[in-house]
Amino acid sequence: MNILVIGTGYVGTTTALVFAEIGWNVTGLDVDLPKIKLLQQGKLHFYEPGLEDLLNKHLGTKRIRFTADKKKAIEDNEMIFICVGTPSLPDGSADLRYVKQVSEDIGRHMNGDKLIINKSTVPVGTQELITAWTRDAQMVPYPFEVASNPEFLREGKACMDALQPDRIIIGTNSENAAKRIGKLYESMQCPIIVTAPRTAEFTKYAANAFLATKISFINELARLSDRLGVNVKEVAYGIGLDNRIGPSFLQAGIGYGGSCFPKDVAALLNMAEHNEVELKLLEKVVHVNQTQHMYLLRKVREQIGNLAGKKIALLGLAFKPDTDDIREAPAIHMIPKLRNEKAYVQAYDPIAALPPELMDESVNFGSSPEETMEGADAAIICTEWPMFLNIDWVQVKDSMKAPNLFDGRNLLDADQMKRIGFFYQGIGYG
Ligand code: UGA
Repeated sequence: MNILVIGTGYVGTTTALVFAEIGWNVTGLDVDLPKIKLLQQGKLHFYEPGLEDLLNKHLGTKRIRFTADKKKAIEDNEMIFICVGTPSLPDGSADLRYVKQVSEDIGRHMNGDKLIINKSTVPVGTQELITAWTRDAQMVPYPFEVASNPEFLREGKACMDALQPDRIIIGTNSENAAKRIGKLYESMQCPIIVTAPRTAEFTKYAANAFLATKISFINELARLSDRLGVNVKEVAYGIGLDNRIGPSFLQAGIGYGGSCFPKDVAALLNMAEHNEVELKLLEKVVHVNQTQHMYLLRKVREQIGNLAGKKIALLGLAFKPDTDDIREAPAIHMIPKLRNEKAYVQAYDPIAALPPELMDESVNFGSSPEETMEGADAAIICTEWPMFLNIDWVQVKDSMKAPNLFDGRNLLDADQMKRIGFFYQGIGYG
C-alpha cells in the first residue's frame, strides 16, 4: 500500500517510518525544505532514540522517501495522513491553520479517490472541518473520505510506542474507510477500536488529560507528604500495585512539560469553556502543575535564604529524559524566576541546549554536571537523566560552595546523599 504522511515532525516522521517498517511504501511530505534535505540524507532534525536507524534502514529498503513536492505527492497516493502541528493560541485553543492549509492542498491537488486520515491532535469536530476545507478547495469533485486516527506515542519512546501501541483508534462512520485503515495496522497486536470521528478526537484529549491529572494528583500529595514526613515514592508504589490505579504516571516531581500535556489540557479547557461546561478538576490540574517548580524553589529559599548573588546549578533542561525537547520544561520556566531574583544560573543537559534568549551574563551552560555544580550554593535536578545517577557525588559535595541538593525528580537515593553529607530534599521525599 502507498501512504503519504504530511508533516515530518515527531509524529509524522515516526508514523512514516513505522509504516515503512511494517512493510508499506511511504512518502513523507513537508514544506520545510531544509528538514526534507536532512531526512533524505538520513539525518533527523530532532533527537529520538532508534529513529535515525529506522530512517537509514528504510532509505536503504526504499520503502521511505521524502519530498517537498505537494502536488506530485498528493497525486501519487490514495491514503494521506495529516501529521502537522496544532500549537496553542493565546486563549489555549488549538491553532488549526496548518491542518487547514494541508486540507486545502489535498483538495486542490486531488486527482481521484482519496482517504484522508488525521493524526494531528485536534479539537472535537475537526474531522468535519477537514472535510469542508478539502471540499471547498477541490477543482473537480472527486470522492474522498476523512477519518480520525489519533496518535499516542511518547517522545523518547516513539519507536516502541508506535510499533507496539496499546490500542489503535479509528474514528470514522464509513465501513470502507475503517476497513482500509484497519488493513494498514493489521500486523499490530493490539485492540483496534472503530468509533465516531468526534469520539476518536475526544479520546486523545481524554488520555492526555487523565495522565496529566495523575501527575498533578501525586504532586499535590507530595506537598502534603513533605509536611507529614511521608515518603511519596512509597505511597505511589503502594497505590500503584492496585490494578485499578496502576503504577505509571505517579512519579512526583517538578511537574509535567513537553509539547502535549500543557497544550492539550489547555485546548480541552478551551473546548469546555466554549460549550459552557466547567472542568474544575482539570483547572486545578493545571494550577498544581504551574506552581510545582515554584514549590521546589521555595524549598531552596528556605534552605539558603535570599537567592541574590547565589549560584544555582540546574541539572537537566529537557522536559524529560531521552529527548532534546525543552518546550514547557520546568527547568526553562525556572530560569527567568531565578534570574529575577538575581541568582547566577549554571545549567547542564546531555542533549538539550539552553535557548539563546535565556543566556546572559547570569545564565550559562556548563560543560559537564560536575563542572556545573562547582562552587554552587545549591544544585537542582530538573530532569531524571540516568547519567546523573553515575555522578561521583562525594567529589561533587566537596566541590560545591554549600552541599545543598534539591532533587526535582526524586531520582537519587535520599539516604545515600545524606550519608555523603548533602542537605538533600526531593518532592515528598528525602
Ligand atoms: C504524552 C503522552 O504520554 C503520549 O501518550 C501522547 O501521545 C503525547 O503526550 C502526545 O500527545 O503527543 P510526551 O509528552 O512525549 O507524551 O511525554 P510523557 O512521557 O507523557 O511525559 C510528559 C511529562 O510528564 C514529562 O515532563 C514527564 O517528566 C512528566 N511526568 C511523567 C511526571 O512528572 N511524572 C510521571 O509519573 C510521568
